[in-house]
Amino acid sequence: MEIKKVMVIGAGQMGGGIAQVSAQAGFETIQYDINMDLVDKGLALIKKNLGREVEKGKRTQEDADAILARIKPSVSLEDAADCDLVVEAIIENFDIKKKVFEELDRIAPPHAILASNTSSLPITQIAAVTKRPGQVIGMHFMNPVPVMKLVEVIRGLATTDDVYKTIEKASIKMGKTPVWCKDVPGFISNRVLQVMINEALWELYEGVAPAENIDNIMKLGMNHPMGPCALADLIGLDTVLAILNVMYDGYGDPKYRPSPLLKQYVQAGWLGRKTGKGIFDYSK
Ligand code: CAA
Repeated sequence: MEIKKVMVIGAGQMGGGIAQVSAQAGFETIQYDINMDLVDKGLALIKKNLGREVEKGKRTQEDADAILARIKPSVSLEDAADCDLVVEAIIENFDIKKKVFEELDRIAPPHAILASNTSSLPITQIAAVTKRPGQVIGMHFMNPVPVMKLVEVIRGLATTDDVYKTIEKASIKMGKTPVWCKDVPGFISNRVLQVMINEALWELYEGVAPAENIDNIMKLGMNHPMGPCALADLIGLDTVLAILNVMYDGYGDPKYRPSPLLKQYVQAGWLGRKTGKGIFDYSK
């Protein structure tokens, strides 16, 4: 099966990025969110990203315009009716995703693949709410989507080889390198990454050193492009906490228990860059 038309559910920082790389790949793309304000915000960010590339001479204005023209705004899930691939990138809440996948399963054509960008919820459980579990798969993009090369492809218990191969091809067309793994809590990426971030938050909680020092040690000593505290703020502390909780529940292993400081930041509404304050302050 060849992908021609893609619908992206969610116009947040991940969904917007996915819509951008989908349109860059030449796919007809629909950017959906629950209201036009949210869709417009997502499209504005895509426009800004493409504009920056034009300014840097990495892309022509005509090319940027053509990419934007391939993205159609939508506030109706019914628009999935003629899509080959739907990529969901909404809030990490199983009950909300369940409703969306039930609807998409009803609306999308029988051949369509339903993918989730979930960073930790089980693909197998999401697939089970549909009548096409073999055509449900995880496409885990990394933030910032236009820049990061990886798509972690998660194969649920029922995902077929054909569906995996189609997604592998589509990911490559989007300029990404697909790397697959089985459907385990946290997949591969977050099982490694979030344990590191959580450990940094335990260090901060214990007063071992300020966040700047923790980040500098990992940047200068380990060549990480950004330290774990800045990265947690980029991902969103609420997302970090949600992923740790999924792994804590999923494995029943105390090594995933979230730092109390992480919980407190989330309770305070200090969620990172998106709220202007997280471990670091972004208000200035
Ligand atoms: N959107 C589009 N482009 C962006 C961008 C964004 N949000 N942020 C940066 N860029 C582009 C810049 O325009 C720049 O492009 P050029 O090379 O063409 O000039 C390039 O990326 C590098 O940016 P900067 O020079 O401003 O800064 P940098 O070199 O420090 O790179 C970074 C920024 C790419 C974010 C880098 O710090 C990095 O790789 N950080 C780690 C990111 C990471 O680990 N992401 C994964 C998070 S985990 C996840 O997403 C999944 C999950 O389940 C939680």
